[in-house]
Amino acid sequence: QKQSGDLRHARTGIELRPGLDGVPATQSAICDIDGEQGLLTYRGYPMQDLAANSSFLETAFLLIWGELPSRDQLAEFEHAVQMHRRVSFRVRDMMKCFPASGHPMDALQSSAASLGLFYSRRAIDDPQYVYDAVVRLIAKIPTMVAAFQLIRKGQDPIQPRDDLAYSANFLYMLTEREPDPLAARIFDRCLMLHAEHSLNASTFSARVTASTLTDPYAVVASAVGTLAGPLHGGANEDVLAMLEEVGTAENAGAYLDEAMAAKRKIMGFGHREYKVKDPRAVILQALVEEMFARFGHDELYDVAVAIEREAESRLGPKGIYPNVDFYSGLVYRKLGIPRDLFTPVFAIARVAGWLAHWREQLGANRIFRPSQIYSGSQLRAWMPIDERV
Ligand code: ACO
Repeated sequence: QKQSGDLRHARTGIELRPGLDGVPATQSAICDIDGEQGLLTYRGYPMQDLAANSSFLETAFLLIWGELPSRDQLAEFEHAVQMHRRVSFRVRDMMKCFPASGHPMDALQSSAASLGLFYSRRAIDDPQYVYDAVVRLIAKIPTMVAAFQLIRKGQDPIQPRDDLAYSANFLYMLTEREPDPLAARIFDRCLMLHAEHSLNASTFSARVTASTLTDPYAVVASAVGTLAGPLHGGANEDVLAMLEEVGTAENAGAYLDEAMAAKRKIMGFGHREYKVKDPRAVILQALVEEMFARFGHDELYDVAVAIEREAESRLGPKGIYPNVDFYSGLVYRKLGIPRDLFTPVFAIARVAGWLAHWREQLGANRIFRPSQIYSGSQLRAWMPIDERV
């Protein structure tokens, strides 16, 4: 049930905007979205240029420190991340106690939070602590995602390989095979596309947590928990389930009609910010086609294209178009990534944005403490238990 949008706060007169729709909650110099034009920039650089020319680690550096790194800065950052990829055997042993049937996002949230036990707290104003925390989180999250995948299959996690770059190493740890360079490059681009997206739910969650001056591991753990929901990062899992349910391109129109008549949302469609096709979906669709040209076609892609085509007349007039989640699952499926790891893969990327917002929040911090419009009972007399009905 949506809340009414015309309630006002008794003292301030400020209107309640459910979901804070359109309400600025912070000032930020990290990412800008033009939802009418379909333009996404990180620190002023268009996403298209970054996806074509940058790497995930370079983009992460840009997001977190505000400028593209020099050659030396990038080499130092890449080396530091490479040196910190391993996770303690104690974290791995803890993960072995997790139920194999549990969702990998829950495993990731717990493991990310556990890092706070190992690294000292409350030094968040020390630039070296900040650098080390950034490096550790970016380095270890992929290792933890891959480790849980092997652990739940009853295997021991495999160690990172120092000769492999960031994305290639993750795919290697996950699939136990060194990936094709094109597959690794495409995956790296997917990470760039998902690295940051202004004040989405998980980033807002990260900033709220950061504003209490807690440690960055708690910041990332709270953001992982927020990303897990089906209206946010979890939607990419549901998109593939939908494509399978539709089955063939011919069924697309009937599926949409039935879903809309039942007031069901079409997963992978719609966005609070974009009123046109999400620019990340445009790039991802091109990556899907590049993948298929090299590694073979996937018929679910034909279903996806048919859904997009049929949705144009049905959802387009409401400004509802494919979002980032609509095509990403098809890329991940081709890369051999299990479906319930799609959202953890999103987290591997988004940790860059969360950390950029963590730093920015600390730069001009004020603890988040919004108000509410109370809609509960007025003062009531205490009722003894025997008199309650
Ligand atoms: N399918 C059908 N109708 C939709 C969809 C959709 N995917 N999304 C929005 N609508 C409709 C709503 O039913 C509503 O119609 P109404 O005004 O007639 O009641 C209208 O569009 C506005 O929808 P809201 O849910 O109020 O829009 P909001 O901005 O709150 O939601 C959201 C955005 C959550 C992304 C929504 O579009 C959605 O649930 N999409 C499906 C899930 C999804 O793909 N999530 C991933 C988003 S991207 C990301 O998080 C990485």
